[in-house]
Amino acid sequence: MKNITIPIQKIKEIAGEHGTPYHIYDEKVIVNRLNQLISSFNWVPFKEYFAIKANPNPHILKIMKENDCGVDAATVSEIKLAEEVGFEGEDIMFTSNLTTLEAYQYAVERGCIINIDWAADIYELYEAGIIPENICFRLNPGSIKNEIMGDSSESKFGSTASQIREAVAFLAKKDIKNIGLHTMVVSNENDPAIFKEYTEMIFSFARELIDEFKIEVDFINIGGGIGIPYLSEEEVDVNAIAEAVKESYVKVLSNSDIEAKIFMESGRYVTGESGYLVTEVIKEKETFKKYLGVDASMSDLMRPGMYGSYHHLTNITAQERGEEEREVYDVVGSLCENNDKFAVDRELLKSKIGDLIIIHDTGAHGHSMGFNYNGMLRNAEFLYTQNGEFKKIRRDENFQDYTNTIIGGY
Ligand SMILES: Cc1ncc(COP(=O)(O)O)c(C=O)c1O
Repeated sequence: MKNITIPIQKIKEIAGEHGTPYHIYDEKVIVNRLNQLISSFNWVPFKEYFAIKANPNPHILKIMKENDCGVDAATVSEIKLAEEVGFEGEDIMFTSNLTTLEAYQYAVERGCIINIDWAADIYELYEAGIIPENICFRLNPGSIKNEIMGDSSESKFGSTASQIREAVAFLAKKDIKNIGLHTMVVSNENDPAIFKEYTEMIFSFARELIDEFKIEVDFINIGGGIGIPYLSEEEVDVNAIAEAVKESYVKVLSNSDIEAKIFMESGRYVTGESGYLVTEVIKEKETFKKYLGVDASMSDLMRPGMYGSYHHLTNITAQERGEEEREVYDVVGSLCENNDKFAVDRELLKSKIGDLIIIHDTGAHGHSMGFNYNGMLRNAEFLYTQNGEFKKIRRDENFQDYTNTIIGGY
């Protein structure tokens, strides 16, 4: 049993008027999570740079702006989206990888913080005369393990400590006095001990660079990666995570005059729990297993198919009719891919064609990871605002959107 924070009546009304599937986000949940995150880091100068990739709808990004956050952009398109909402300069952290000179140039010209994935890029940038004002390096520590991110030594992201050390030596010779450091090695992680472990590692690295190169480390971005309770109602103890980070900060940096700010680029923690994917049962099928076919598919929410992730499902129609019988189903979409499954062997209230099923916790890495395989059209998004309004913030794609980029003459 998981709570639904949006009035069910309204969810049904939108389904009736607009059709399914659709995504809907609860602004109050987003603002609460932001407040919790920011207040848990009140022991240090702190800023959240919301990871645009988690939910790039400009209406959602505007909520971040209204709550004094910056944004983390992975591509030039994400920078452009941020600019449309009014973010500029250092409020945009550009955390790209395999970055071209053109992309760097765009971000540098706009004064973004340039988070360099591959440390050797700094030499190319200097050679090309593209000199960032705010430089940050992404460290791959090569030793942290996480269920979603895997072993960081296998990760394509970031540079080794020695590669960054070389790049910093180069910058020190250029009289650069100030850099930032970044690492992102966990995802959907709630264990404070893991946060303690990897922040201790990056804080120690900062201290080494400061001692060795007499350079200032202005900020340390400890990435995103705070998890959400996909399986339960239990709230994430973000204070315990912040406390673990504080312990390593105090341990490594407190006996020095280092006052590095802490940045985060959380996505999931901020918007994940705010989102619901509303879908309708369109088919019941039984072969070797019982299938419940719904009108949403993996193209609306890739996580279960891609990572085998759990998303809670609530059949609100069965609940309302007082259904007591339960059945075990695979809940599936209609893509021609056998991993297009929202749930495998899931016990649900006995469901019927026409029932509305709510897929929980879809506010991060949900719609944004969508795609058009099999001609699937991406679906609409709605926002339940803090003052109780329901706003459509993205329309459904139509067939014309799908074919718009094709060149004619066939
Ligand atoms: C560089 C970077 N920062 C931040 C995030 C956001 O992570 P999360 O949504 O787990 O907080 C991601 C996620 O993919 C990422 O790749």
